[in-house]
Amino acid sequence: MSKTAKLDVPSAGGQLESELRLAPLGMPDIGAIHSLYQAVHDVAPHGHLADRAVAEFESILSREEETVSVGVWQGDTLVGYTLCSIHRGEPVFKDSPLIGLLQARSGELWTGKGTVIDPRFEGRMLMSRLLRMRGELIAKRGAVHTAGLVATTNLASLASSLRAGGWIVGMERDEYCDNFVCYSGALQVEFKPLETMTIPIHDLPEVSQKLAHGWVGDRMEKGQDGKPRQLLMFRHEFEWFAGSGDDSSA
Ligand SMILES: CC(C)(COP(=O)(O)OP(=O)(O)OC[C@H]1O[C@@H](n2cnc3c(N)ncnc32)[C@H](O)[C@@H]1OP(=O)(O)O)[C@@H](O)C(=O)NCCC(=O)NCCS
Repeated sequence: MSKTAKLDVPSAGGQLESELRLAPLGMPDIGAIHSLYQAVHDVAPHGHLADRAVAEFESILSREEETVSVGVWQGDTLVGYTLCSIHRGEPVFKDSPLIGLLQARSGELWTGKGTVIDPRFEGRMLMSRLLRMRGELIAKRGAVHTAGLVATTNLASLASSLRAGGWIVGMERDEYCDNFVCYSGALQVEFKPLETMTIPIHDLPEVSQKLAHGWVGDRMEKGQDGKPRQLLMFRHEFEWFAGSGDDSSA
């Protein structure tokens, strides 16, 4: 799996426009984050953005050693952000064979806490750029596993996660809707694809069944209208899944 190739962006969007800059976020940025969150949350489809109070943003950003969050700025205006911190508490995303296994091995998991792009700045692949910088900063902390939820109807977010190098490794229903579980991290290096297949991205029962048997979604293929149509999935050579129900009929 060539992660480098996936990270390439078309030349038209390959450079960050000179007036935009990416930078880590901290407590002083809470006001700007919350304002942008509220503006987008009010218009985003149900389930695309979790409900969050200011106190939650403070709790995410206040523990500096446990959070990595990145913003994109135009001058002094925050036009996009992504938040991420170490997961504490009960194991999450347990229905994903890969994440379940990871947590059973006591691997520390970082989880995404929301990504937002100001609608006036959409279409520049800013989310995937934020995720890539976030991944680099997390790796510098010595952390190796990151996962998060993306609503199954949120194809822009899903495309961005995959473009940034992520994989779909499970499905999970939260209090809002059905979601894909997206993962990026060290396990990607360990996997060797055995076989691949494509499934219509809207065939959620089939995608779900494959994910439950250890397949992962790697990238989306688009139709002539530019809309995502097919999900490219692969099954990997991985003994860890030998006892998890994986079989050739899955
Ligand atoms: C999701 C969001 C962050 C993406 O913003 P962005 O980085 O500007 O995204 P772009 O418009 O550049 O599109 C990124 C990708 O999604 C695709 N895309 C965009 N809109 C799409 C749509 N309506 N349907 C399908 N695909 C779409 C683009 O073709 C592009 O695909 P590619 O990377 O394969 O070329 C932004 O729309 C947003 O803030 N939404 C509201 C909050 C939200 O949903 N956050 C995500 C929570 S997980």
